[in-house]
Amino acid sequence: MDLHLKIWFIVSLIPLVANLQHSVHATPEVPCLFIFGDSLADNGNNNYLATIAKANYQPYGIDFSDGPTGRFCNGRTMSDIIGQRLGFDHFIPPFATARGRDILMGVNYASGGGGIRDETGMQLVVFGHTYNQLFELHTHRVYHPLGARISMNQQLLHHQITISRIALLLGSRHAATNYLSKCIHLVGMGSNDYINNYLLPQYYPTSSLYTPDQYATILIRQYSQQLRTLHKVGGYKIVTMGLGLIGCTPAEIAIYGTNGSTCVDTINNDVQLFNVKLKSLVDDLNNDMTDAKFIYVNVTGITSGGTFTTGLTVTNVPCCIVSSSTGLCVPNGVPCSNRSTYAFYDAFHPTESVNEFVAARAYNAQTTFDAYPIDIHGLARL
Ligand SMILES: *[C@@H]1O[C@H](CO)[C@@H](O)[C@H](O)[C@H]1NC(C)=O
Ligand SMILES: *[C@@H]1O[C@H](CO)[C@@H](O)[C@H](O)[C@H]1NC(C)=O
Ligand SMILES: *[C@@H]1O[C@H](CO)[C@@H](O)[C@H](O)[C@H]1NC(C)=O
Repeated sequence: MDLHLKIWFIVSLIPLVANLQHSVHATPEVPCLFIFGDSLADNGNNNYLATIAKANYQPYGIDFSDGPTGRFCNGRTMSDIIGQRLGFDHFIPPFATARGRDILMGVNYASGGGGIRDETGMQLVVFGHTYNQLFELHTHRVYHPLGARISMNQQLLHHQITISRIALLLGSRHAATNYLSKCIHLVGMGSNDYINNYLLPQYYPTSSLYTPDQYATILIRQYSQQLRTLHKVGGYKIVTMGLGLIGCTPAEIAIYGTNGSTCVDTINNDVQLFNVKLKSLVDDLNNDMTDAKFIYVNVTGITSGGTFTTGLTVTNVPCCIVSSSTGLCVPNGVPCSNRSTYAFYDAFHPTESVNEFVAARAYNAQTTFDAYPIDIHGLARL
């Protein structure tokens, strides 16, 4: 075979293989997945922001196919895994770089440091640069004018931009709304309203203004408005992720001490107030909007059971070498070798093993407590 023929053969084979792959892959259970959240779900949005909350360097992504991408994890995030369970063969693109028809599979708006409250995470800005200097450094990139982190309110504005783009792609606003009604909207917000707000009295006044119960109430009130907005713009299948055991993170243990317990119990108790109210908010929303379905994933419950720690032998120290000022992995530090035995990758974020465990039970509940009133698989089939 001469070279010319060989090249022709290869060129003509590629479209065939691509077609085959297309037909072999099962279609996902829902046409699209939209993700709202913080660093637990960020997959690259913060790469373009002026913030210290970034994870686009080694050793982040050491177990991820594309290496460091901005995911605050050694491997896949919980949302990545939920996407795979739903049958998506690509990861949902970050808003910062999603282009063209990619957005039809959904968009990930999550941003490390972001919260329900707009001011949450504001101490995470890169100091020593003025806004204009940073803007000049980033003018050829997507640069967020507020900088530092993208709050839930801002993520909802980004979603409106996506919806307009989908309307252009599908020909009308009506077609876009109809399309969105079949999609899953995964929302995980609130961790930073504790970690990067209420638990930092040196930067934020909230802990002197509100008791833990009052704070949980005002967070839920604002979250309720945000979830209603999401429904108003076409969200009918909405998953809310409860908060995890923030008092068990290596960072909070290092800051507060455990007083003989395994975790900082006061923090876990305060955060649980939010979870209990979130679960009843899901009831309220389902009663008010009967055309929609909201569900609650009991992350704390899933990570509290006896089977959770099976295989996890190190639960209170991070796998990577962390910076004492940020709790994030230091660049190029050598992480622990057996990541599947560690619960935390850095001082705040779970390892891929934990994400896999939680995602599996959020998708297919194993007890009646895992997901309420139905699991993600049930939601997809509605
Ligand atoms: C520490 O634990 C002891 C015994 O359980 C308890 O009496 C005390 O109030 C705790 N202190 C703090 C600061 O939580
Ligand atoms: C979560 O699950 C646990 C059991 O694992 C249960 O005790 C708790 O009531 C559940 N609900 C909420 C709101 O977290
Ligand atoms: C890593 O830990 C898991 C769980 O304990 C174990 O099954 C596995 O053999 C370990 N792998 C290595 C390479 O040590």
